Amino acid sequence: MAELKPAWIEGKVAANTHRTQNLFSLQIEADVAPFEAGQYTSLALDIDGERVAQSYSILSAPGERPLEFFFYTQLDGKLSARLSALQVGDSVLIQQLPEGAFTLNNVPPGNDLWLLATGTGVAPFLSLLKTPQVWQRFEHIILVYAVRQWDDIAYSELIDTLKKDYPDRFRFVPFVSREKVDDTIHGHIPASITNGTIERVAGRVLSLNDSQIMLCGNPGMVQDALAALEQKGFSRSIDGKTGQITLEAYW
Ligand SMILES: Cc1cc2nc3c(=O)[nH]c(=O)nc-3n(C[C@H](O)[C@H](O)[C@H](O)COP(=O)(O)OP(=O)(O)OC[C@H]3O[C@@H](n4cnc5c(N)ncnc54)[C@H](O)[C@@H]3O)c2cc1C
Ligand SMILES: NC(=O)c1ccc[n+]([C@@H]2O[C@H](COP(=O)([O-])OP(=O)(O)OC[C@H]3O[C@@H](n4cnc5c(N)ncnc54)[C@H](OP(=O)(O)O)[C@@H]3O)[C@@H](O)[C@H]2O)c1
Repeated sequence: MAELKPAWIEGKVAANTHRTQNLFSLQIEADVAPFEAGQYTSLALDIDGERVAQSYSILSAPGERPLEFFFYTQLDGKLSARLSALQVGDSVLIQQLPEGAFTLNNVPPGNDLWLLATGTGVAPFLSLLKTPQVWQRFEHIILVYAVRQWDDIAYSELIDTLKKDYPDRFRFVPFVSREKVDDTIHGHIPASITNGTIERVAGRVLSLNDSQIMLCGNPGMVQDALAALEQKGFSRSIDGKTGQITLEAYW
């Protein structure tokens, strides 16, 4: 049987926002199929006669246009550095059908939703936080966003809006590992799960019965946070009905 190839369509860059030396966002006009918050698609460029493709989480909410993506520039990488140089009006190939199981449908019921991200791993969570469904399903939502330096925190306007819109239901817990910054946790997510700092700062308890936890980004964080949570009795949700942990590693 013939192998199914991804259906590539042409997208047009509507904006390229450079946030730091290493972080940028692209807005892309493209007629992709409907998707769920948390899903990703592939972007590609034809470079020296070869199609180079990588997966990227969609940061925009379903239905929102243009589509938005948030990137780390891997300087010696094959694709991201090229994407960072795109200008308004440039073409980029995009997989028409977004995919992925890192969605609310695969998260079992709960009262508190913990969204734990490093770096660009915050993208699927921002998509999710823009949807009404997540606020209907969970009473309390805690966004944990771990970066190297304070300037790496992106989308703070959106985060501030969520704080204002949901003062009693939304908590933002930033981690900064490579400089000391007031009102942030200095360190890593897994250690703060083990020693309880993350619960103290969030003002919520990680509970086997009431909490659901989504992990996204650096595979080291995902693996170490999973181990720290398993030590406390939490388990991965494989079927979307039982367990408390849903995860996606970026590389
Ligand atoms: C589901 C999913 C969603 C993603 N969403 C985003 C996103 O929203 N934003 C974003 O910036 N990135 C995202 N990524 C990562 C992205 O797909 C690329 O890996 C990244 O942009 C680097 O690509 P590159 O071609 O520039 O570098 P590459 O040439 O692929 O890699 C350069 C270096 O990056 C590291 N690396 C990259 N991929 C791997 C891997 N698979 N295994 C080990 N090391 C690796 C290694 O250090 C490697 O030497 C996502 C990945 C997945 C799987
Ligand atoms: N972001 C991406 O999508 C992407 C894709 C491909 C490759 N990379 C690689 O990641 C590097 C930079 O990416 P980034 O700036 O987005 O962020 P990052 O390196 O993932 O760092 C973000 C935060 O995660 C922390 N962290 C790192 N390892 C951890 C672990 N095992 N457990 C818990 N926390 C951990 C970092 O702490 P420390 O300061 O202590 O490191 C930092 O606070 C690049 O050199 C590149 O090779 C990133």
